[in-house]
This record gives sequence, C-alpha cells and structure tokens, in this order.
Amino acid sequence: MRAILIYYTITNHTKQAVENISKGLEKREVEFEIFNVREIKHNNIDFSQYEILVIGSPTHMWGPARKISDFIKNFTPDDLNNKRIGLVTCYAGVGGNRAIDIMEKMLKEKNSNIRVDKIAILAGAPGSLWTGPKASQKDVQKCIEIGERLGE
Ligand SMILES: Cc1cc2nc3c(=O)[nH]c(=O)nc-3n(C[C@H](O)[C@H](O)[C@H](O)COP(=O)(O)O)c2cc1C
Repeated sequence: MRAILIYYTITNHTKQAVENISKGLEKREVEFEIFNVREIKHNNIDFSQYEILVIGSPTHMWGPARKISDFIKNFTPDDLNNKRIGLVTCYAGVGGNRAIDIMEKMLKEKNSNIRVDKIAILAGAPGSLWTGPKASQKDVQKCIEIGERLGE
C-alpha cells in the first residue's frame, strides 16, 4: 500500500502529528510520502496511486486553515474513491473537533465512499504564533495507532 500525507503548519505541531501517523504506517510497511501543502500543486499529483490519504491542519478560527480547506476543495470525487483517510488537527483550546468535522464533511460531500479516522489534538497556544505546549504522549500514541489502522 502507498500513502500520501499532506499538512499545513505554522508552529510545527501539525507536522509532528502527521509524522507520528507516518510512524504507524511504517509499522505496517506502508510506503509513504509527506508534503507541506505549500510545496505541492493538486494538479501534479495522481491521487489514484495512493490507497491512503492523510491531511493535517492547525485549527484556525474554529475551522481548518484556509490553505487546507482550499486544497480539499480541489479534490475530484475520483481522487478520493475508496480511500482510507486520516485527518488530524492541532488546536490550542477551542474548535478542534469542529475543524476536523468540517474537513470530514467537505471530503464526504466530494465522495461518500471513503473511510475516515480522525483526531483533534490539544497543542500550541490560542490564536498565537508562540509554539506553546506540545501534544501529550497519549495523543502522540493515538496518532501512531491511526497510522497502524490506516495501514492494516
Ligand atoms: C491564525 C490562528 C488562528 C487560531 N485559531 C485557533 C482556534 O480557533 N482555536 C484554537 O484552539 N486554537 C487556535 N489557534 C492555535 C493553533 O490552532 C494551535 O497553536 C495549533 O497547535 C497550531 O498548529 P501548528 O503548530 O501546526 O501551526 C490559532 C492559531 C493561529 C495562528
């Protein structure tokens, strides 16, 4: 199996969460590639070559970051068909669950034939560019487990 992991981050918490998911994928011997959403263009990626898609976003104003919602808007139904999808957001106190539910809804509206595993992780500082506290070890472990389930 192959996986593509795409994230946006400002203070690196979401990057770390996505990397933790990749550790679970590694345990299942899934081949994976990780990209910052800033480095890639939707049109240059053939999503059909990946069984697994992971998307990570910080929570910004109780929702996904604009760069991630714009990226999700560009998926075609075919891009998502039959995909196992992992969604992760990092938030500092309020709105993480809302952000992750919005991401899931946007994807399911494109194609309901997807399997979603999702997590909102408390990390960072509210509305701030200060890095703040890191994710708990429990949430680190949960991310690894998501990767393992995706790669089962
Ligand atoms: C512009 C902006 C808006 C934010 N809005 C929220 C918010 O609505 N709720 C929240 O809990 N945290 C909010 N935060 C804090 C981030 O979600 C939190 O620090 C997160 O861990 C950052 O992830 P990152 O390190 O991947 O950038 C905001 C941060 C920024 C910079």
